[in-house]
Amino acid sequence: MTTQHADQQAATGAASKGQVGSDPANATHPVPMVAFERAGKRYGPTGEGGFTAVDSVDLIVGRGAITGIIGRSGAGKSTLIRMVNGLETVTSGKVLVDGVDVGGLGEAALRSLRRQIGMIFQHFNLLSSRTAFDNVALPLEIAGVEKKAIRDKVGPLLDLVGLGDKAGSYPSELSGGQKQRIGIARALATDPKLLLSDEATSALDPETTQSILELLKRINAELGLTILLITHEMDVVKTIASHVAVIDAGRIVESGRTFDVYTNPRHETTRTLLASALKLPQWLRPVVKPQPSAGDKVLVRLVFFGDTAFRPLTGRLVAELGSDVNILAGAIEEISGEPFGSLVVSYSAEPDVVARADRFYTETGLVTEVLGYVA
Ligand SMILES: Nc1ncnc2c1ncn2[C@@H]1O[C@H](COP(=O)(O)OP(=O)(O)OP(=O)(O)O)[C@@H](O)[C@H]1O
Ligand SMILES: [Mg+2]
Repeated sequence: MTTQHADQQAATGAASKGQVGSDPANATHPVPMVAFERAGKRYGPTGEGGFTAVDSVDLIVGRGAITGIIGRSGAGKSTLIRMVNGLETVTSGKVLVDGVDVGGLGEAALRSLRRQIGMIFQHFNLLSSRTAFDNVALPLEIAGVEKKAIRDKVGPLLDLVGLGDKAGSYPSELSGGQKQRIGIARALATDPKLLLSDEATSALDPETTQSILELLKRINAELGLTILLITHEMDVVKTIASHVAVIDAGRIVESGRTFDVYTNPRHETTRTLLASALKLPQWLRPVVKPQPSAGDKVLVRLVFFGDTAFRPLTGRLVAELGSDVNILAGAIEEISGEPFGSLVVSYSAEPDVVARADRFYTETGLVTEVLGYVA
């Protein structure tokens, strides 16, 4: 992205901030689509021997928004999202979908609710014996929709996901990205008001991931569909989610607007996930060492939030460390449409230089990460 582009983004971002109406989750649609109210899930026996996978979660998923839930493996993400459509029972508290308590529904009512909630999966879960068309048609067949109506529905859905020409292909004849597009078309077949995504891009390469995220973004915008997605990748959240919640050991440790959580991460888990999302430039990777040898330089990534902070702070750092500092890479990226800058610098690993740098970071509140050492 060019700097000019970033400036424009900054300007529009700044203009929309503070206008309550610009926030889909809070203002335009005050009714939440999903509300977790001290919702919990305990596997196994009650009392001793059981395992609490989701622990007293309070969370609102705004109508019309794309909300991401991020956490490490085993944090409870799949359990949490499956509580929304009743694939997992809620063992304490409540989960409300559009005001309806999922735990209180009988079988027929739960089936009807599930038609209003689409879901997509990491491994697509397509039926290998059915063509793309027939996979998308499946939920409609189950709902008892007649053949002609199914044909009228499935064709446009395949077009929507860009696979109008693959109706007769079997899953084994499709790429991962194409399979996920079929999964998305199938999830949309019953005109749901909510789409759940469980790691839908985790099995895909980065480029295909981007194209699937673009599709989800477009569906959200064009159909006004609320999307709740879980992921272990900050990049996914950063690209499409306006709101994010961070889950750790079954508890939501931090939540809010994606930009706010990224720019001011308060919890250790968030900081760790954030750091792992900030990858090293390609050319630097082979030369970075985990431990310093005598005379090596320390390699540090600085994260500047907001475009305005970028240049003045860079200048001040150079002034602070004098000729000791080298700027090796820099970029302005976006978090759900708003810019932030990141800079990779190296400087002497001598204790006095490191101490001066650390003082500067403390004073300015810069987020920093030691990436390793270079000769
Ligand atoms: N049926 C079950 N019985 C007992 N424990 C379970 C069951 N399902 C999940 N768990 C445990 O609950 C915790 C949360 O699991 P969950 O699948 O929700 O995590 P996750 O965040 O989706 O992980 P991943 O990123 O690896 O998919 C894990 O410790 C897991 O071992
Ligand atoms: Mg999972």
